[in-house]
Amino acid sequence: MYRFSQSVGAMQSSAVRELMKVASDPGMISFAGGMPHPDLFPVRELDEIYASLPLASKQIGFQYGPTPGYPQLLESLREYLRSKNLPVDDNDLMITTGSLQAIHLVVKVFVDAGDVVVTENPCFVGAIPVFKFYQAELRGVPMDEDGVLITELDKALYRTNPFPKLLYLTPYFHNPAGIVYGAERQRQVLNLLQKSEIVLLEDDAYGELHFEGKDKPVPMKAMAGDSLPICYTGSFSKIFGPGMRLGWLLAPRDIVRQCELAKQGMDACSSMFTQVLADAFLRQGLLEGYLKRLREAYARRAKKMLQSLETHMSDGVHWTVPRGGFYIWVQLPPSMDASKLLKKSIRKGTVFVVGKAFDPQGRKNDCFRLSFSHAPEDRIDEGIRKIAEAMRG
Ligand SMILES: Cc1ncc(COP(=O)(O)O)c(C=O)c1O
Repeated sequence: MYRFSQSVGAMQSSAVRELMKVASDPGMISFAGGMPHPDLFPVRELDEIYASLPLASKQIGFQYGPTPGYPQLLESLREYLRSKNLPVDDNDLMITTGSLQAIHLVVKVFVDAGDVVVTENPCFVGAIPVFKFYQAELRGVPMDEDGVLITELDKALYRTNPFPKLLYLTPYFHNPAGIVYGAERQRQVLNLLQKSEIVLLEDDAYGELHFEGKDKPVPMKAMAGDSLPICYTGSFSKIFGPGMRLGWLLAPRDIVRQCELAKQGMDACSSMFTQVLADAFLRQGLLEGYLKRLREAYARRAKKMLQSLETHMSDGVHWTVPRGGFYIWVQLPPSMDASKLLKKSIRKGTVFVVGKAFDPQGRKNDCFRLSFSHAPEDRIDEGIRKIAEAMRG
């Protein structure tokens, strides 16, 4: 009989992936998947870009490429990140296969079995299995509407043994909590980290999807400059399309060097085909106009869902009001269990993701995530009404 590795014992299928099977039933209204809306993909722009590429660029797209990324894309991405005041000249940048791979690489080069990783609670559901695969011990820290709670973070970082190696945060239009960190909270987190050697893994997958210019986030890596070891990850998935499978890591040089070695043994390079396309998209200055379209569409969808929640939900149910991203986090009365509610909702034809999927300990379940990005816009109200009916009986 063959024997799987110890890491396999720690793996579980993500609750979201499992739900996708139910959610793909054409009659079902799904608020489950954190997917962009297909009508918003820049398909026409990419058709034109591909058609106008010189043969040599098309050939590059079909070829293997350098592990850190297609040099032209690294150059155009550096320009873009510079415009967000990120310290691109003092750090190294690498292209990854989605930002999930960037998270994976950082965890792979830092975490040994038994090491502690501090996360938010709730935490991005896709990162939890990566931490578990490397047999990390997870310590979740609760949040309020401005971000992670500082006294609790202080406890998790410095007042509990063993000390952690890594802190993973998703400060901008949090998945699933739907919040954005306040500037003061960001400063408090950075101050707290000044005392230590803990590496901050800062996940900025949604930062560009702010509904209003005043809510455009300033990454902590931009605030901290070079004073702290921050691994900043970003993604083309929400500003382009997840099918591109492109993300990036901006981090101190020695860290990127280790991640590059790890990536060589994983997939050698990210898709050159999509890197060539992404580079042309950035160079032709198409991103800003496209983002404007996305921000308007997602803001409209969020507004619609908020209106429906106001109309249909009973007293005692609370939710966050998103200023960007894809998500609304719903807090149920303490006696209510999201899994029971989900079962009833599915019978009525609506699906969402229960809170415990996002709890690193898999327990807290008086809450759930609604995604407003993907369901048909004209069925958002019907879906929320069905969940409210399921709650009442
Ligand atoms: C918070 C967060 N980080 C990272 C990712 C990974 O995205 P990708 O690997 O497609 O770049 C996602 C995807 O949903 C996400 O929500």
